[in-house]
Amino acid sequence: MRYGLSSLCLAILCVLALPAFADESTGKGFVLWAGAPAVDSCVTAQCHAILGQAKHVHAPVAEGDCLACHIETGLPHPGDTSMGLVEEEPGLCLQCHENPAADMAYPHSAVEEGCTGCHSPHQGGLPKFVLQAGGELCLTCHDDVKDGAYVHGPVKANSCQMCHGIHGGENEAMLNLPGKDNCLACHAGIRNIIDNAVSQHDPVVNGVCWDCHTPHSSDNKPFLTAHYPQELYVPYETEQYALCLSCHDENAFLYERTSEATAFRNRDANLHFFHVGRPQKGRVCKSCHGVHGADQEKLLMSKVPGFGSWEIPLQWDATETGATCYVGCHSSKKYDRLQRQTN
Ligand code: HEC
Ligand code: HEC
Ligand code: HEC
Ligand code: HEC
Ligand code: HEC
Ligand code: HEC
Ligand code: HEC
Ligand code: HEC
Ligand code: HEC
Repeated sequence: MRYGLSSLCLAILCVLALPAFADESTGKGFVLWAGAPAVDSCVTAQCHAILGQAKHVHAPVAEGDCLACHIETGLPHPGDTSMGLVEEEPGLCLQCHENPAADMAYPHSAVEEGCTGCHSPHQGGLPKFVLQAGGELCLTCHDDVKDGAYVHGPVKANSCQMCHGIHGGENEAMLNLPGKDNCLACHAGIRNIIDNAVSQHDPVVNGVCWDCHTPHSSDNKPFLTAHYPQELYVPYETEQYALCLSCHDENAFLYERTSEATAFRNRDANLHFFHVGRPQKGRVCKSCHGVHGADQEKLLMSKVPGFGSWEIPLQWDATETGATCYVGCHSSKKYDRLQRQTN
């Protein structure tokens, strides 16, 4: 029989399985391990020889305390069903460890399910015997985060920990920081726009950046949750503005005449339709509005970028019932919601 030592091993296991006590003189010791005599353990040249032969070895394995976790089933050893675990995970590990997510507001479900999804119980080449390094570990269960055509820089670099905790966290989705601070930590330019804006966009200020952006990857540039044109001019189609229209009423752009769908009208002539809603060359919202905030009311930008090095000036002087626009692309124009203005 190849495993000639098995009966001897079994005998030793029986002895070790008896209740034992922590070594109080050293303060060291595990529930089932009491600094037992240096008996030949389960690790011999013939049996389980690789255990202990790694850069990082788990203390109870290094000390031969196999029975801290394993228990005999009574069936002949070796054999698939001859050994079981003393307890299910994560209880198995929590015999000796604090639950690393215990006090966290948002524990990682992976931890509730166990520890060996990420840690080897025995040993490994990486510190803390994790199964994979860095974000590679996360991708073993979450490979879908890279599914979109465009992948966000820190995700591409597998830097999941730039935004997420590991065992859990204090913020929703175990994020390191509350809400948009997660993004503004790297995107100082957007923070600048928000801080200096005269008019602010409600979802940008009171929501989270991922109301509109996908944090990981997307089929819509720049990492948007729904389509929004990259161009400055596009023929009007509802799908082009899926992002804005997920919150805003499409009627503001759809009809040539309206007496209520938008305040951007000359009496009932819909100026949003005139600029945006045209089937041929419609202007995209960004030729007037700054989506993260702007230096005039109504998210209107005083300088519109995107035309090469030229920024088109746009000055909007509001009245009670309308406004006058001084723009780089046409002479000044007036509109009034009560009395049609002729320009
Ligand atoms: C900290 C707990 C723990 C300790 C200590 C421990 N093991 Fe394990 N061992 C496990 C877990 C968990 C598994 C995985 C069981 C499963 O897959 O169901 C396992 C699996 C095994 C297996 C099955 C093959 C494999 O590697 O997956 C062998 C053999 C084994 N252990 C031997 C040992 C020996 C020998 C020792 C002592 C040197 C030891 N174990 C110490 C927890 C432990
Ligand atoms: C019998 C007690 C015992 C059990 C059961 C046990 N561990 Fe450990 N574990 C230890 C000891 C002791 C250390 C060394 C602690 C130290 O060095 O600070 C350790 C270290 C670790 C470390 C490295 C910690 C560090 O800071 O380097 C990890 C990770 C770990 N154990 C995971 C597990 C997992 C996962 C399980 C369950 C499969 C488990 N442990 C079960 C006793 C145990
Ligand atoms: C989602 C993967 C994952 C799960 C599940 C997981 N861990 Fe960890 N754990 C890690 C990683 C990664 C580290 C290394 C952290 C570092 O190096 O900063 C770690 C570190 C540790 C450490 C070292 C101390 C520390 O907090 O850095 C201990 C102890 C530990 N884990 C125990 C456990 C126990 C016990 C469980 C199950 C109750 C568990 N882990 C579940 C991934 C995980
Ligand atoms: C062993 C599998 C496994 C590994 C490895 C793993 N996770 Fe998870 N994770 C889960 C499960 C299961 C859930 C709960 C179901 C879900 O949301 O997919 C989850 C949920 C999450 C959530 C959502 C939490 C919430 O409250 O909405 C985040 C964020 C997350 N994991 C990040 C990570 C990161 C970061 C890593 C790497 C450090 C990682 N995961 C590694 C299994 C895993
Ligand atoms: C730039 C910050 C950032 C990085 C980097 C990042 N995430 Fe996230 N992640 C988030 C945010 C924000 C959410 C919450 C999204 C929501 O609630 O819609 C989230 C949610 C999740 C979720 C739960 C919801 C879902 O989309 O399934 C998982 C799982 C997750 N992240 C895994 C990962 C993994 C794995 C990595 C690394 C490959 C990673 N994340 C990198 C910011 C980030
Ligand atoms: C760790 C730093 C880091 C964090 C945190 C971060 N980003 Fe990024 N982000 C980058 C880098 C680097 C790029 C440029 C590479 C690329 O396009 O992915 C980028 C690009 C972007 C772009 C596209 C920019 C463009 O000009 O096309 C958007 C949109 C974006 N991030 C949104 C977010 C959002 C939303 C969050 C929070 C969930 C966030 N970022 C958090 C580093 C970060
Ligand atoms: C209401 C939807 C919305 C919200 C909320 C939002 N964004 Fe954007 N973001 C956009 C749109 C649309 C673009 C494309 C801008 C364009 O084409 O002019 C964009 C572009 C970007 C870019 C690319 C560079 C640029 O200025 O065009 C970055 C970086 C960015 N957003 C980061 C953020 C961050 C960080 C937050 C949270 C503070 C955030 N966004 C919140 C809609 C939004
Ligand atoms: C997540 C929901 C959401 C999305 C997506 C969204 N908005 Fe808004 N927006 C709001 C809310 C809420 C307000 C404030 C209430 C209102 O005026 O309807 C607002 C207000 C505005 C205003 C008026 C600002 C003011 O000072 O009165 C403009 C202009 C605007 N949004 C443009 C856009 C554009 C352009 C897009 C697409 C790039 C967009 N929004 C996408 C929610 C959203
Ligand atoms: C030619 C410039 C221009 C374009 C292009 C434009 N808007 Fe406006 N928008 C305005 C002006 C000016 C106002 C302010 C009207 C007022 O209050 O007098 C406004 C107001 C708004 C408001 C506040 C509610 C309302 O309708 O009065 C929203 C929301 C809005 N725009 C969304 C959008 C969206 C979404 C797009 C693209 C689909 C867009 N705008 C394209 C100029 C423009």
